[in-house]
Amino acid sequence: MARKHIDVEVFSVRQLTPRVREFRLRTLDGAPLPAYGPGAHVEVHTGNAQTGLVVRHYSLIGGDVEADDTRDTCRIAVQREDRGGGSAYIHANFEVGTRLQISAPTNNFPLDRRDHHSLLIAGGIGITPIFSMVRSLARRRREFTVVYAGREPEFMAYREALVAVAGHRVRLHISGGQDTGKLDLDALIAAQPVGTTAYVCGPAAMVEATQAAGRAAGWEAERIRSELFGAGPQGDEVAFDVELKRSGRVVRVGKDVSILDALMAAKVDVLWDCRRGECGLCPQSVLKADGPIQHRDQYLSPEEREAADTLCICVSRIRGERLVLDL
Ligand SMILES: Cc1cc2nc3c(=O)[nH]c(=O)nc-3n(C[C@H](O)[C@H](O)[C@H](O)COP(=O)(O)OP(=O)(O)OC[C@H]3O[C@@H](n4cnc5c(N)ncnc54)[C@H](O)[C@@H]3O)c2cc1C
Ligand code: FES
Repeated sequence: MARKHIDVEVFSVRQLTPRVREFRLRTLDGAPLPAYGPGAHVEVHTGNAQTGLVVRHYSLIGGDVEADDTRDTCRIAVQREDRGGGSAYIHANFEVGTRLQISAPTNNFPLDRRDHHSLLIAGGIGITPIFSMVRSLARRRREFTVVYAGREPEFMAYREALVAVAGHRVRLHISGGQDTGKLDLDALIAAQPVGTTAYVCGPAAMVEATQAAGRAAGWEAERIRSELFGAGPQGDEVAFDVELKRSGRVVRVGKDVSILDALMAAKVDVLWDCRRGECGLCPQSVLKADGPIQHRDQYLSPEEREAADTLCICVSRIRGERLVLDL
C-alpha cells in the first residue's frame, strides 16, 4: 500500500545474542522522526530485485541503559528466523551504510504511565517493546515489576541492560536452566498489588495464559494488554498455486510464505496494512479453491469464514493445490 515513508540508513549494528541483532537507523536528511512512545513500532521496507519489496514490523527500543536515542535516529532488534523470510534477509543484508525505508511509528501497545503499578511480561524477542516500557517507567520513577522469560540466558536480548535499568524490579525466568518449566502466571498475577495493569509481549501461548490468569484472578480484561508479533508458519502448511483470474497469471506460494508476500514478490499490486489479519485491508475474493481455506485472521466474521468466498491473504491460505482469486 502506498504511504509516506522515511528514508533511513543503518549507522550501527550490534550482535545482541546468537540470533538477535540490533540495528540503529538514522534519517538520511537529518530530520527528526515523528515522536513515539514505548510500545511503538515501525514498518521496515527493504528487499531487492529478486525478493521484491519485503515489509516487516519492528518495535522501537527507544535508547540504551543511559540515554534516549536522538530524534533523527531509532533502534530495532531483529531476531533471525531461519525460514528465509524477512528477518533472515535483514540479517544477511543490513550493514553500516545500508539504506532502507521505514514508516512513521505506530503504537498499538501503548503504555499508560498513570497506572498505579505496571506488570511487564516478556517472552523471548517480545522483550523489545517491554524494554522500552521499562526504560520509560524507571526514568519516571513509576512502580513496576518486569518478568523476562527465556530458555537460556545467552539467547535473551537486552538481559543485562534490563537488569541495569530495572534493578531489583526485574525477575528473569530461565526455563531451560534454574527455573525449569513454564512461568507460573497464575501466581504472578495473584501476587500483584491491587490496581495493577499488565503488559505482555511474547509467544501466543504466553499471552493467552496471562489473559487466562487475569480472568481467573478477576481482573477486568482491559487490565491485561498485549502485543503479538505474528503467527508465522504453523507447520501444517502446503505450497500451492494462486491463479489471478483477471490477469491470467499464476503465482507459486511456498509453504513458508504468505500469499501476500508471494504476490508482492511477483510484483502484483495488492492492498495491505497490518499484515497480521487484523485490519481488513487485504481480503480477496475467492473464485475457487481445491482445498479447505485455513483462515488465520481476526477480521472476518464466522459467517464470512463459513462462506469460504474470501480470505485475508496476509495470513490465511489453503490446504490444496490451486486457489483462484478475483484479481
Ligand atoms: C507490531 C510488531 C512488532 C514486532 N517487533 C519485532 C521485534 O522487535 N523484533 C523481532 O525480531 N520481530 C518483531 N516482530 C516480528 C517481525 O515483524 C517478523 O514477523 C519477524 O521478524 C519474522 O519475520 P520473517 O519474515 O523472518 O518470518 P516469517 O514467519 O517467515 O514471516 C513473517 C510473517 O509472514 C507471514 N507468513 C510467514 N509464513 C507464512 C505462512 N506459511 N502462511 C501464512 N503467513 C505466513 C506471517 O504473516 C508472518 O507473521 C514484530 C511484529 C509486529 C507485528
Ligand atoms: S493486511 Fe491487515 S488483515 Fe491482512
